[in-house]
Amino acid sequence: MKLTQLTLLTVMSLLSQNLFASSADTLPSKNSMNHHKHYSHGAEHTKNSLNNQVKHSGNQKMISSDTKVSSHNDMHDMHGMHGMKKASKDRLTPASYFGVARNQPLKPLITIQNMSTEKGVFKAILEPKQSVKRMSDKASPELWLYNGEILPLIEVNAGDKVEITVKNRLNEDTTVHWHGLAIPPSQDGNPQDPIAPNAQRTYEFTTNEDMAGTHWFHPHTHLRTSTQVAKGLAGAFIIKNSNDPLAHIPEQTLFFSDLKLDKNGQIAENDMIDIMNGREGQFALINGQWEPEIELDGTQRWRLINGNSARYLNFSFPKEMVEVYLVATDGGLIESPQQIESLLLTPGERAEIVVTPKSDKIFSLMASAYDRDKMGPVPKEVDLVLAQIHPKVGTRIKLPSTLTDITPLPKPSVTRKVIFSEEMAPLKFLINGQSHDMNRIDFKMNKGEVELWEITNQSHMDHNFHLHGPQFQVIEFENNGVVSKPPFTLFKDTINVRPGETIRVLTQQNHTGIRMFHCHILEHEDAGMMGQVEVL
Ligand code: C2O
Ligand code: CU
Ligand code: CU
Repeated sequence: MKLTQLTLLTVMSLLSQNLFASSADTLPSKNSMNHHKHYSHGAEHTKNSLNNQVKHSGNQKMISSDTKVSSHNDMHDMHGMHGMKKASKDRLTPASYFGVARNQPLKPLITIQNMSTEKGVFKAILEPKQSVKRMSDKASPELWLYNGEILPLIEVNAGDKVEITVKNRLNEDTTVHWHGLAIPPSQDGNPQDPIAPNAQRTYEFTTNEDMAGTHWFHPHTHLRTSTQVAKGLAGAFIIKNSNDPLAHIPEQTLFFSDLKLDKNGQIAENDMIDIMNGREGQFALINGQWEPEIELDGTQRWRLINGNSARYLNFSFPKEMVEVYLVATDGGLIESPQQIESLLLTPGERAEIVVTPKSDKIFSLMASAYDRDKMGPVPKEVDLVLAQIHPKVGTRIKLPSTLTDITPLPKPSVTRKVIFSEEMAPLKFLINGQSHDMNRIDFKMNKGEVELWEITNQSHMDHNFHLHGPQFQVIEFENNGVVSKPPFTLFKDTINVRPGETIRVLTQQNHTGIRMFHCHILEHEDAGMMGQVEVL
């Protein structure tokens, strides 16, 4: 059954009365200042006092807009508070309950075979369908997968003509969106172009050198994107360049995804907490595996894809253990390698890093706690173990000092504002004060013209911004009146925007048609935080 946006919002408003009642008391306390360098923004970001203020006013707004709270006047009632805390703690059956194996060697993603023998042509069939995967005695969830594979990989060479036929074996509409590829909107799996159950369509596009990099694909179905991804539909899409300066380095692709199971070991429904904050299950997986073992034998290139619905991954790389260089972002290679010790990768974002082990001691790959100011009674953010790294000091491969040349975009002719906001009771996630409407074009822009987009987050929680089509160039960040610039030429298609922050980007669209832009916390996208720009 399809939930219409209206019923969804009604449900949210009913439930929100209860949840918000205790939010002021049970919201996690602010993490202390975070002094890590977050190179996904390219600038040093610290959670500053502005965010505290913004968050504060956000809380007040939640409380004052909920009349039931003040009339109950039970916010300090210890019974009520404990009940709510308990409820939030018990919402997830603990991961350990299911007996899923950990510490298994990381398996590479299954590659989808090219059916074409013609040079320069990649042909394949993708069949989204139900498949039961056994994880343990207690968990054999019915997933929705492409060709029955968990997170399959499509790998093509830059310049290849791609023809992928999608045969929809689901009981509902679907589309396939090629996240990160600057291909025509008509081939990009927009919600306007659904594939009906048992119908099929062929996506056709030609790749080029500018598209080289680590990308991915997932459904973009009207109001059903988050559900279809939560059930397992996604895959990696890698475009290789013939003149890749890092081609000699052994590589692994690490696809991070989320799994939320109910106590029967089936894919859990979204509850209010998921709808508000985005879905984060009890399993943070890599290539579909729980805390796998990763062999790091000498220098390796890792392609990282955050395919989570909502989980922010704030990687920390202990410098006693590894030397890490950022070499690519959503937009492919950056001009020169940047040494990093941490990396914030929000849903939809990709990065490539080159990792060299410094010792043979086993250590954990960790995501440090990142406080994105979730709403409601959620537990305090904690550090998360993602994998066990088994390093072997081996051949140390030196990186070239220049990876590529990037031409910055010229001066813009138009400035636009994109403002993220939220409304409570009923809960709404908005762009420029409006919910997504398939029949409304939010902006019109001319093909080939450079525009400056200013994305401001006026809500109390982090949201990220994604624009379909070519990567945009990040120009500057503004926090609390302080403007900073990325330390290198930075092209991205997805970027985090913190509460109170404004990010300025240059965008140039290369094909006519409708491009979507949205928060890539998929539950927010489905709840309306999405707009459309028509390129003329
Ligand atoms: Cu990864 Cu509009 O999506
Ligand atoms: Cu996209
Ligand atoms: Cu969001």
